[in-house]
Amino acid sequence: MTPARLRAQFAARFGGAPALHRAPGRVNLIGEHTDYNGGFVLPAAIDFDTRVAIGAGAGRGLRVHSCNFDQTVRIGREQFAVDAAPNQPGAASWSVYVVAVARALTAAGVQIPDADLMIDGEVPVGAGLSSSAALELALAHALAEAAGARLEPAALALLCQRAENETVGTRCGIMDQYAAALSRAGHAMLLDCRSLQHRELPLDARLRVAGARGGVKIVICNTMVRHSHAGGEYNRRREECERGVAALARGAPAVASLRDVDEDFLVSQRTALDEVAFRRCRHVILENARVLAAADALEQGDLDQFGALMHESHRSLRQDYEVSCPELDLMVELAGSVEGVYGARMTGGGFGGCTVNLVREDAVERFSEAVGGSYRGATGRTPDIYVCETADGAARIDAV
Ligand code: GLA
Repeated sequence: MTPARLRAQFAARFGGAPALHRAPGRVNLIGEHTDYNGGFVLPAAIDFDTRVAIGAGAGRGLRVHSCNFDQTVRIGREQFAVDAAPNQPGAASWSVYVVAVARALTAAGVQIPDADLMIDGEVPVGAGLSSSAALELALAHALAEAAGARLEPAALALLCQRAENETVGTRCGIMDQYAAALSRAGHAMLLDCRSLQHRELPLDARLRVAGARGGVKIVICNTMVRHSHAGGEYNRRREECERGVAALARGAPAVASLRDVDEDFLVSQRTALDEVAFRRCRHVILENARVLAAADALEQGDLDQFGALMHESHRSLRQDYEVSCPELDLMVELAGSVEGVYGARMTGGGFGGCTVNLVREDAVERFSEAVGGSYRGATGRTPDIYVCETADGAARIDAV
């Protein structure tokens, strides 16, 4: 719904005029499962927002309504106190994020006031477009401002990552929260997840291709297979990488993360690692190199090279990291057979969700028809296909 409608719905349900905050979803162009290994990623925020309306509340704690689920929950102060007991089983799953963010803010010394909140999310859930980080950042923005706390965007991103790690239970890296907090429209973000330094790469000029009408678009194809990260596979991948690092560090104590390792060293230590850990490490090490090469290719406007790196990334995620699924592989394969497509790969954590595609603008319609039709024919699922624009990171919505 529009911000104006959210404001009106808030007034109708809780009364009063709320402040509105928003945070975007993101698409990752390349650099998957590298963030929690101290590596590089290249995401961009996209034009799907989660919005949070907030007004002063009367009760003890928070009263929160989710428009998406049409549910209202009360979250008592004891649930987000510093010494709060672990999550209550059976709580509505979306509300865990509210508890998680409120706890992380409290732990950071922010005194959360009693408040009423209304949440409206348009980032597809379970699609690998980071609906969780969008929700976290929009909530953190809203609650921090209501508390009169001034927190830098990078601090909010770290706080939201902690919320997800500690209360939701996904040991995610920093990419999604950082992209949701600090992205700038018209740009992709080259983020070094170890130093947290980032560089903005202008996309609009780079996605213009000589001879092509209107340049190149970022197109997202949703397999409609939903993933869940809180489940074990994501955390298991992280453990497998940690196992690899521990084995590599026995040969070279200076190795603290896969960022400290190149392919030659990994190969030289092959017998020290079990076969699964070896393949997981190989993916991460080569993916880091691909991100840097892709950033160079983008800066030079070499989209053929960028696309080749995307394909290579997908192959590695499928074979070495084993986070793809038949539907993602099919979607990537179908994209590869359409003329005017530079590159295609799964985006986000995997096990379902979306692919990201770079498609010449004059081929977008043909792409959507061909990929959508063949995918439906093969799987019986009708994919959502979004031609997306880049967006700014989390902010207060001033004018409605
Ligand atoms: C999820 C996590 C991120 C990142 C990606 C995979 O989106 O939240 O931190 O690890 O998966 O690249």
